[in-house]
Amino acid sequence: MQPEERDAPTPYELIGGDAKVRELVDRFYDLMDFEPGYAALRRAHGSSLDSARDKLYLFLSGWLGGPPLYTDRFGHPMLRARHLPFAIGTEERDQWLACMAQAMEETDVPQELKQALERAFFKTADWMRNQAG
Ligand code: HEM
Repeated sequence: MQPEERDAPTPYELIGGDAKVRELVDRFYDLMDFEPGYAALRRAHGSSLDSARDKLYLFLSGWLGGPPLYTDRFGHPMLRARHLPFAIGTEERDQWLACMAQAMEETDVPQELKQALERAFFKTADWMRNQAG
């Protein structure tokens, strides 16, 4: 097979598959729980992060081009609608993005992939804003 005939690897493959997605999501919520800089983001969540932790892992698996674990279980994510009960403004958006950037850095996501994902996450997180300011 010629190189140009091969499919480009998915972000899911580039990041290192299932175990790595789990590691990234675990780091993300641990940082959210313990880093004072993410307090506004933490406050937007309920007392437990367990459900968010599981669901972001299931969601990212498919979003990165791996098995569509979230849609298999819950159907279309309807992310904006599902976030409407939570007050999300610029501060929460920016803390989400910073927390995810730190989690990617600390779990050694390759730099080029990290930068591409940061741009994609920005679009999704910005679309989730439902409060002015
Ligand atoms: C912009 C800032 C964001 C805030 C403040 C936020 C906050 C939250 C909260 C409070 C929940 C509910 C957790 C629970 O069920 O206990 C949630 C759920 C979820 N979030 Fe976010 N989120 C943000 C951005 C994002 C982004 C960018 C993504 C995806 C890349 C995402 C993916 C999800 C998913 C998949 C769920 C589970 C939805 C469900 O099935 O109920 N969130 N988020």
